[in-house]
Amino acid sequence: MKFQARHQPLELEPEQHILELLPESGYEQALQDLAGFSRIWLVWWFHRNKTWRPLVLPPRGPAQRRGVFATRSPHRPNPIGLTPVQLIGVTGRKLILGACDLVDGTPVFDIKPYIPAFDIFPEAVGGWVEEVENSLSAPPKFAVCLSVLAQTQAEWLRTQWNIDFTQRLIEILARDPSPHRTRRIRRRGDVQRVIGCGAWRALFVVEGETVTVLALEAAYPRRFLNDPKLEDIPDCEAQLAFLSRWPSAWDPA
Ligand SMILES: C[S@@+](CC[C@H](N)C(=O)[O-])C[C@H]1O[C@@H](n2cnc3c(N)ncnc32)[C@H](O)[C@@H]1O
Repeated sequence: MKFQARHQPLELEPEQHILELLPESGYEQALQDLAGFSRIWLVWWFHRNKTWRPLVLPPRGPAQRRGVFATRSPHRPNPIGLTPVQLIGVTGRKLILGACDLVDGTPVFDIKPYIPAFDIFPEAVGGWVEEVENSLSAPPKFAVCLSVLAQTQAEWLRTQWNIDFTQRLIEILARDPSPHRTRRIRRRGDVQRVIGCGAWRALFVVEGETVTVLALEAAYPRRFLNDPKLEDIPDCEAQLAFLSRWPSAWDPA
């Protein structure tokens, strides 16, 4: 699923993925000698994306648009992806790979060895990304607290449904609670803001450098949650139970 694919591969967690090459093309031979490399370049197609714009809003950092060629955006004039992925092993036509940022079923155009002697440039400068990463490594600017209602709701989700996004929510809001399309933060009325967290939302206010999460909400309306044709809604049952317990002013029963 797109929501689960990483923006860039996250190699802190052990992960394995299989890339299987097509049969009857002589690829077994083409893979000869690759196993000695611990990393390979994958050149691939963002096959789900049809459109692109010259300026894009990156998910990290301030709400500032950047030229698409200065980003790794998946929406590009020629939708080609490039990932230096860990090569764990090669068996027949199968490559066993480490953490990936490709969704399942992505067409792969080419495989090339990652060669440290040619591909590492320690003195290279990382442009605006480096500035953003430096600012993110500074301590967060905002203190985040949860109202009694938000705490009760978070506790109920954790204990009854094993759903817990509070930590991630606090991390994002402590950095920057300002409206941001990719981080799914928008205004609601004059004072309140709302942030999307997967199948959930959190309603909050900002006063000075304090963010108060007022309440959690189910992100989908009841008519979607109750529609048997829509089978893939995440946390569907939990959202319905949540709405029975905390009926939404936005989606009355
Ligand atoms: C930010 S891009 C970076 C990709 C690659 N590392 C690069 O620099 O070209 C990674 C995101 O592309 C999206 N993605 C992965 N496979 C895709 C596909 N086949 N079609 C469209 N989007 C895809 C996922 O949402 C993933 O989080």
